[in-house]
Amino acid sequence: MSTVPSDEAVRVVPGRSTDLPAVMTIMTTAFEPGFGEGWTRSQCAGILPMTGVSLMLAQDHSRLAPVGFSLFRTVAWEAELLLLAVAPDYQRHGIGRLLLDQFVECTRAAGANRVHLEVRDGNPAVQMYRQAGFTPVGRRSNYYRGSDGRQHDALTLAREL
Ligand SMILES: CC(C)(COP(=O)(O)OP(=O)(O)OC[C@H]1O[C@@H](n2cnc3c(N)ncnc32)[C@H](O)[C@@H]1OP(=O)(O)O)[C@@H](O)C(=O)NCCC(=O)NCCS
Repeated sequence: MSTVPSDEAVRVVPGRSTDLPAVMTIMTTAFEPGFGEGWTRSQCAGILPMTGVSLMLAQDHSRLAPVGFSLFRTVAWEAELLLLAVAPDYQRHGIGRLLLDQFVECTRAAGANRVHLEVRDGNPAVQMYRQAGFTPVGRRSNYYRGSDGRQHDALTLAREL
């Protein structure tokens, strides 16, 4: 049984390719497969070595394994949040927002003046992004394909820094 950490007990640290097994455990439990939003291990392994790509882990001091992660890419003045997930047992304790705020601060420090992301229309995460100052700037029809073959629109959200 897991013990949910207090916000203070969780810190965000850089991750690397050796953390991919732990990242995939979070990926497969946090994302509902029916919506096709999660990535495969080979997709993650393929993007990690690319220039400007960062993996960050939410680490609970009382556990060896991370409880959340973010994956993002910074190119010139723009940064894109590619993935953000928190293990189900640890959700609704501020860890998603912690990772999101760290993404914004990290990319701001790297010189980005605009951050953006794609999220499935209807994903509760939209609420978190809007609270953090992201606003909808576009829609991509049928962007995600779920395990049942159904397609789902993506919203593009952006925030000027
Ligand atoms: C989205 C996700 C990362 C949020 O992580 P989290 O640690 O639970 O988020 P937080 O506790 O920081 O929540 C911040 C705010 O977002 C909103 N929120 C988060 N999850 C929500 C949910 N399921 N329903 C409604 N609002 C939600 C709430 O306003 C929340 O604040 P509150 O708890 O004070 O009401 C997590 O639910 C997750 O891993 N989901 C599956 C993966 C995913 O869809 N990622 C986003 C697309 S890449």
